[in-house]
Amino acid sequence: MKKLIAGNWKMNGTLSSAGDLARSLVGGLGKSSDLAEKLDFCVCPPFLHLEKVQGVLAAQGAVALGAQDCALTVNGAYTGDISAEMLLDIGCRYVILGHSERRQYHGETDEMVAAKAAKAHEKGLVAIICVGETEKERESSLAEEVVGGQIRKSLPASANAENTVIAYEPVWAIGTGKTPTAEDVKAMHAFIRGILKEKLDNPDAIRILYGGSVKPENAGVLLNIDNVDGALIGGASLKAEQFLAIAAAAAV
Ligand code: PGA
Repeated sequence: MKKLIAGNWKMNGTLSSAGDLARSLVGGLGKSSDLAEKLDFCVCPPFLHLEKVQGVLAAQGAVALGAQDCALTVNGAYTGDISAEMLLDIGCRYVILGHSERRQYHGETDEMVAAKAAKAHEKGLVAIICVGETEKERESSLAEEVVGGQIRKSLPASANAENTVIAYEPVWAIGTGKTPTAEDVKAMHAFIRGILKEKLDNPDAIRILYGGSVKPENAGVLLNIDNVDGALIGGASLKAEQFLAIAAAAAV
């Protein structure tokens, strides 16, 4: 399967810097057309920058657009929410759901993530469902139990290998510069693949991304581990050359 290299821009930038970043990405990929052939790409800017970024990406077509969240309801009286339908309308193909920052700062539960993913699927979006243990949970040897529980509860019945991507992001590795060992990543991704067997008809076809402090320096190791089918990249996705260097390491 083609690896997916996804950028999570989080709450960063301005309309103008988002456009510049998208242009740099498209320009960089234009110069290395084999990358665009070997890998799938997506970037997830803040809601307010989606339209601008879509305008830049659409011209080239190699990078898909994604959002960082969607509502768990359909359009209606939900002040401040953005629906899956609106994301589709603006040109999104992907939506990140259940990121640990949403779980931590917005109280999102597995059940809410599943409801959001079901809405995304209804509209034809691909849900990137994030799971991952905290440092305390890993130290207490609870990582598999936590991640297994999140997957069992966060995937709606509509999930399949085409409309869902799993992102394993240990909470303690996000934005910290720390990463698990290659052995730990290998073991967790194999474990996740096993859990997916309970939920899906074709668990081998679903992508399982790794996320958490992916950088050009560690991408070669992290992205070439069995069952690592791409990366969800935060900080390093804000610099086109770093994002592309990670992609290059994934493509070898
Ligand atoms: P990071 O973030 O690459 O900055 O660690 C990853 C993420 O939160 O998706």
